[in-house]
Amino acid sequence: MKRFLLLAGAGITLLACATAGRVETPHFDELPSLRMIWADYFPMGNIIASVDFTWQGAHVADIGNPAREHLLTRHFDIVTAENEMKPDWIRPQPGAWNIVGANRIVNFTQTHGMRLHGHTLVWHSQTPAWMYAHGNRSHSAEAIENMTYHIERVMRYFGDSVESWDVLNEVFPSTVGGGVGPGNWRGFLRNYSGWFRAIGSDPNGDCFIWIAFTTARRIADEINPDMILYYNDYNLDSPNKRAAVYYMVRELNARFAAENNGRRLIDAVGMQGHYHRDGAGAAFPWGPTSPANVRASIQRFASLGVYVSITELDVTVGNAVSRPIAPREERRQAILYAQLFQAFRDNAEHIRRVTFWGIDDPASWRARGSPLLFGENLRPKESFWAVANPDAFLRDANAFLSDPKAFIDARYW
Ligand code: XIL
Repeated sequence: MKRFLLLAGAGITLLACATAGRVETPHFDELPSLRMIWADYFPMGNIIASVDFTWQGAHVADIGNPAREHLLTRHFDIVTAENEMKPDWIRPQPGAWNIVGANRIVNFTQTHGMRLHGHTLVWHSQTPAWMYAHGNRSHSAEAIENMTYHIERVMRYFGDSVESWDVLNEVFPSTVGGGVGPGNWRGFLRNYSGWFRAIGSDPNGDCFIWIAFTTARRIADEINPDMILYYNDYNLDSPNKRAAVYYMVRELNARFAAENNGRRLIDAVGMQGHYHRDGAGAAFPWGPTSPANVRASIQRFASLGVYVSITELDVTVGNAVSRPIAPREERRQAILYAQLFQAFRDNAEHIRRVTFWGIDDPASWRARGSPLLFGENLRPKESFWAVANPDAFLRDANAFLSDPKAFIDARYW
């Protein structure tokens, strides 16, 4: 909190220059460090890729690309593998292990003193169908065996090189209907998930969610009792989906605590944070993201005694095919980024980490929405500055952008 108040005074003399045109945007290697700016509040994260794999033809391989390595190590404390620790990548066939990419990522983090978050163990997507026994209930024992084996082997393999895991990803669908309560959250689960179809969610029998977390908890306790186990999902700012996740975590944690001397099963909720600035039409059925809803969800999950992290942050604006996006769009996006970071800052006591899902728009999985802090050729966008000092940005963006050095402590440059 203190840092932002300190910076506030510098603005007054600069208001006069607001319309005088901007100074040239600093090159990406002359920017203040986001992770240093936010160090008193939460660690900052981003994704990492060891090889090029996108369908967009953009270069996303960070390792070995000096500019991308620079941005990662300068602005972020912790990385998540964008794809290379997912089930389909690591284990395309039974018995076939593909861990070369993940190994390079582990080595990178160790060489650069960065932290690593594991993503993800159990998911309906990017998982080979053989693993959940083709989603067939008559083979549920095989699916359970495959799931627990995968969790055990993968967690033991990475061991202490990861500090936390997304144990379970996205068990609820994009949109959850009304009427979610403590007794009926299971009725809202994503019913086409292979794990759901193969194992089911019986509270008194086999429940794939319970099996996944209790297995991961057992292995985590062997490796590192402080390892943080996440439930991770998107659209958690939506009140209905927030309720579904809230009641799920509450029930499972209460049951596990009762059976295990108060021990917590699920340590953290990961709010992915794939947000959007625009909100009309079929492409954006949820409406523009409301920072008030984001705040409410952080506080609701925190009230369960779990941590909250923003795990996959990106904010689309428009649906452009070409870049750069129009200045007006860039500003609209940056304002929402600033409001979101005010919400994160105000709830920092609950937030364990804020991780972006990518560095630059061309390499983003949502490239058409230009959702990230850097644009073409790694140009820092207004959103970069909005994150660097949300208060100054929202107070007078033109004054701030005309001379960011006047608003950001020299220690961070
Ligand atoms: C995305 C990756 O960014 C893409 O490269 C890949 O093709 C699909 O998955 N939720 C998640 C992430 O948990 O793993 C997804 O990542 C984005 C949505």
